[in-house]
Amino acid sequence: MIALGCDHGGYRLKEIIKNYLDKNKIQYKDFGSFSEESVDYPEIAINVSEEVAKGNYDKGILCCGTGVGVSIASNKVKGIRAALVGDCFTAKATREHNDSNVLCLGGRVIGEELALMIVDTWLRTEFIGKHHTKRLEQIAKYEK
Ligand code: RB5
Repeated sequence: MIALGCDHGGYRLKEIIKNYLDKNKIQYKDFGSFSEESVDYPEIAINVSEEVAKGNYDKGILCCGTGVGVSIASNKVKGIRAALVGDCFTAKATREHNDSNVLCLGGRVIGEELALMIVDTWLRTEFIGKHHTKRLEQIAKYEK
C-alpha cells in the first residue's frame, strides 16, 4: 500500500502516478493536496512520511515542483530514507542500496514517461541487503 502526497507543483504528476497505480492495481491512499492551488509542502510530506515510518504504508511517493522540498521534509522523519530521483539508474540503485522508502519526484522537472518509468522501476526493485545493511544501520544509529 502506497501513501501519496504532493503540493501544487507536483499535483499534476501525482494524478498521473495515480492513473499508473490504478492501471497496475496497486493500492494507495492520496494524502493530498487535491488541486493546483498553492499549499505548503512540509505538512503534507511529513504526514505521508510519518505514515510510512509508522508502518501504516509500505512506501511513500511525494511530488513537488522540484522534488527537493518534499525530500528535505521527508528525510526529517525518523526511519525515512527519501530519495529524490530523476533517472532510472538511481531509481533502481536507491532501492537496492539505500532501501529508500519514500520516492520524491519533481513535477516541474521530469516528463510523464520518465516519471512513470522511475516509479515502475522503484516499486519493482528490492533492497539487496549484504554490506548495504550496515550502512543503513549507521544512519539509524545517528537518528537515535
Ligand atoms: C512551489 O512553488 C515549489 O517551491 C515547491 O513545489 C517545491 O519545488 C519546493 O521544493
